[in-house]
Amino acid sequence: MSKVHILDHPLIQHKLTFIRDKNTGSKEFRELVEELSMLMAYEVTRSLPLEDYVVETPVATAKTRVIAGKKLGIIPILRAGLGMVNGMLRLVPAAKVGHIGLYRDPETLQPVEYYAKLPSDIAERDLIVVDPMLATGGSAVAAIDYLKRMGATSIRFVCLIAAPEGVAKLHGAHPEVEIYAAALDECLNDHAYIVPGLGDAGDRLFGTK
Ligand code: PRP
Ligand code: URA
Repeated sequence: MSKVHILDHPLIQHKLTFIRDKNTGSKEFRELVEELSMLMAYEVTRSLPLEDYVVETPVATAKTRVIAGKKLGIIPILRAGLGMVNGMLRLVPAAKVGHIGLYRDPETLQPVEYYAKLPSDIAERDLIVVDPMLATGGSAVAAIDYLKRMGATSIRFVCLIAAPEGVAKLHGAHPEVEIYAAALDECLNDHAYIVPGLGDAGDRLFGTK
C-alpha cells in the first residue's frame, strides 16, 4: 500500500467531516466537494517536476522555476466525479477534461460503461482520475484499464474516501498508479457501501435517490 497518500491537512479533514454528515444538503455538499477537490489538487500536484526559468523583474534578472513536462488532464468518472472537476480546475485551469461514464450495477457490483470522451492527446498528458468514492475498486480499475487502452501512460487517482478493499484492488491491477484520498475508511457493508463513508456520493451531489 506504499502508493496511497492520505491527505491529512486540517482543512481537508475539517471539510470531510461535514460531507460525511447525513444532515448536509446537496448545495453545501457540492460546495464542500469543490473546496476539498481544490485543496487536494494542491497536494496531488506537489510531485510535478519543475524546470529552470529566467524572468526579468522590474529590479533584476530572477533565476526561477516553472512546471516542466507534460500537460495535465482531469478525468472524472461520471457521475459523481463531476463534483470534483471545478475544484481541480481552479488550481490547474489549463488542464483538459475527459469524461468516462460508468455506473456500478447494484446487483453484480460490476462497473457498466456508458460514455467516454477524452482529449485526443492523452498519451502526452499527466492524467488525474477523480471520483469521490473508491469502494470495491471496480469502477476505478475499469476507468484506468480504458485509459491505458486509449494510450495513457501517466495516471494518478484521487478520491475523497477509500475503502481498504478498493485500494487493494486498484493497487493490484495498476500498481504504478498513485492513490490520493482524504480518508481510508474501515470496510464495505453488505451492499458494498463504504463504512462509515458518506453514503451515495452521486445522489448526495445531485439530489437524486
Ligand atoms: C459510485 C462512485 C464510484 C463507484 C465506486 O458511482 O462515484 O464511481 O460508485 O464504487 P466501486 O469502487 O465499488 O466501483 P456509482 O456507480 O454509484 O454511479 P454515479 O456516480 O452515477 O452515482
Ligand atoms: N459508491 C458510493 O457513492 N458510495 C459508497 O459508499 C460506495 C460506492
